[in-house]
Amino acid sequence: MGIVIRGGTVVTSTDQLKADVYCEGGVVRAVGKDVEVPAGTQVVDASGQYVMPGGIDAHTHMELPFMGTTSSDDFFTGTAAGVAGGTTTIIDFIIPNRNQSLLEARDFWMNNAKKACADYAFHMAVTWFNDQVQKEMRHAFHEDGIQSFKIFMAYRGAIGVDDVELIGVLDTAHDLGALVTSHCEHGDAVVTLQNRLADRGLLTPKYHAQSRPAYLEGEATNRVINLALAASDGRNGHPARPHEAQPVYIVHLTCREAMDAVYAARRRGQPVLVETCPQYLLLDDSVYEKPDFEGAAYVMSPPIRPKGHQDYLWDALSTGAIQHVATDHCPFRQADQKVMGRNDFRKIPNGAAGVEDRLKLLYTYGVATGRLTLQQFVDVTSTQAAKIFGLYPRKGTIAPGADADLYLYDPAATGRISAATHHQKVDRNIFEGFEVKGKVSTTVLAGRVQYQDGQLRVERGAGRYLKRTGTRT
Ligand code: URP
Ligand code: ZN
Ligand code: ZN
Repeated sequence: MGIVIRGGTVVTSTDQLKADVYCEGGVVRAVGKDVEVPAGTQVVDASGQYVMPGGIDAHTHMELPFMGTTSSDDFFTGTAAGVAGGTTTIIDFIIPNRNQSLLEARDFWMNNAKKACADYAFHMAVTWFNDQVQKEMRHAFHEDGIQSFKIFMAYRGAIGVDDVELIGVLDTAHDLGALVTSHCEHGDAVVTLQNRLADRGLLTPKYHAQSRPAYLEGEATNRVINLALAASDGRNGHPARPHEAQPVYIVHLTCREAMDAVYAARRRGQPVLVETCPQYLLLDDSVYEKPDFEGAAYVMSPPIRPKGHQDYLWDALSTGAIQHVATDHCPFRQADQKVMGRNDFRKIPNGAAGVEDRLKLLYTYGVATGRLTLQQFVDVTSTQAAKIFGLYPRKGTIAPGADADLYLYDPAATGRISAATHHQKVDRNIFEGFEVKGKVSTTVLAGRVQYQDGQLRVERGAGRYLKRTGTRT
């Protein structure tokens, strides 16, 4: 049985029109006025609402083993929370341990993800490098449809790589035509600062932020950009040409220093893509002053930045300099996980939830404030991620032939974010008390209503693995 979404305003990254959307067999069949549909078609009334392409969150960590524990949303609960917030596709990370086979880690993550109720793809983190890793990168790219590789310049001694390994990953990705995504912080310098603070007994959550200053994110961003240029240098016998550099995608960029490194690279013609997250747009580092260890809920890397950086990021987002707003969804419960670092910020599991709240936050503080048009909103929450990571036009738009993934947004509704009402399996919400304008009233995934009027109707295991074949580099 098909489904028709009647009378809404369909919004894509380029258009906005009053139209019906008819879906059948899991894909969009027609978009237009008064579309004729077969008898028995399910009708969803969208009058007064926006009909948007399903959200794509290109940065999540479901059931990630990390810092001695595991992030508290698994692939089922995390994708369900995403569906309640209009997100119908996630791109998660396979993160092998140092010295672990990439393909062995792939099997572990693929197995975990079978319970997802929304569609998913993977980036492959490369946490060490040798000939075997290089071979497995090729396999992941050609056989498994994993066409983006991730490097952590932080987390030294665990999943972080050194510069020699980083160069190996960039070179291999360049050979393959793959994209490299990078967590940019100077890992060794962070360890030095952490230990210096710890030696002085400064161990509360706010020192997590102090040990990871913006200038060290700027340094690492600049470094990966320069090493990406080196990856192309001399290949054709001539000196480096910026436009031939290995493309890099900077994940969860937080600060002016990092953005300035990106601007400088782009001025010389180098391909650099940028992602940020709602927490870096909407929170400032005063969150770390909260009493009773509540600052631990905001311990993530990079940390929330001092006032000033947020406006710089909003400016970059509204002028198109930032391509995607993801969440870095990586929740840890305060009660029994964050508390592992009660006496030492270095042991607080890094990360927070966000997959459920991304779209309403960005609509409220982006669209409703006039910082983003509706088209830009769709672009940075869905279309660009689909294009960059090789999922477009199957994902990221509403058009005949695309997957029937969409959500209805009721702009007249109001609400307030709270851990008491969210679906994410975590006991804190870093946006607790934030007022929101509008709400996701209905989410349709592969042509089936999976969320409506506050009720989740998701199906464990209904999510499909998205094998990528066309990542843009
Ligand atoms: O603190 C964070 N961001 N935790 C998740 C892992 C990462 O660095 O993305
Ligand atoms: Zn990271
Ligand atoms: Zn992350």
